[in-house]
Amino acid sequence: MSQDVFQRYSAYYDLLYRDKDYGAEAEYVARTLRAASPKVQSLLEFGSGTGKHGCLLARHGFDMFGVERSEMMVARMRQTSQEDPQVGDGSFDCMQGDMHTVELGRVFDGVLALFHVVSYQTRNVELLQTLANAARHVRPGGLFLFDVWHGPAVLAQRPSVRLKRVEDENTRLTRIAEPELDTNAGVVTVRYTMLAEAKRDGRLTTFEEEQRERFLPKAHGVWLIF
Ligand SMILES: C[S@@+](CC[C@H](N)C(=O)[O-])C[C@H]1O[C@@H](n2cnc3c(N)ncnc32)[C@H](O)[C@@H]1O
Repeated sequence: MSQDVFQRYSAYYDLLYRDKDYGAEAEYVARTLRAASPKVQSLLEFGSGTGKHGCLLARHGFDMFGVERSEMMVARMRQTSQEDPQVGDGSFDCMQGDMHTVELGRVFDGVLALFHVVSYQTRNVELLQTLANAARHVRPGGLFLFDVWHGPAVLAQRPSVRLKRVEDENTRLTRIAEPELDTNAGVVTVRYTMLAEAKRDGRLTTFEEEQRERFLPKAHGVWLIF
């Protein structure tokens, strides 16, 4: 995946996923972490995007720190948290950085990578760097919770062309997703065509982006790191 694959996409990211139930997901993550380790408090989030899970988990009382590669995602996160600064008993902050190489000089009770961030690591070296850097940043006995594209489901369902239409008060957005499956590599390359119409003046913005995601034998994992 190129470094800036989420740069243009990020302008429409929150609108595109406004139907995604981040609240229920954050609740599931909080419950799963506390069941595995009741005193878990500090969490490092790899690929924190626009900070949706991070802010919600802060409301569940966790101290969150995100590392996100896309500068534009980080900028959107800062804008969102200014508009809605509620973080409950916890806290949320994030920085621009690469989860393969970032060195924060401290350890956390757990590491998260949510919404198949790990699947974007399509080369084995990237996957290994991700796992090694999670291990470097977690205390002994800490947790690493992540989800990935589930290989058996991908192979059974076969990726197909999909159309998504969403809108808010400013924008009417259409996304066409055209996938190509490489079974041997365990990778799906998706070409996204985005058409965004500004409601104010009807101006149309269009662009294309390609994203590559790998699928793995398991859909998600909670790993204890010793
Ligand atoms: C599908 S988005 C998920 C964002 C967020 N976790 C969410 O649930 O909305 C994947 C994110 O992973 C980030 N990402 C991918 N590879 C990364 C890396 N090596 N280091 C940091 N962030 C990365 C992308 O920039 C993107 O924001």
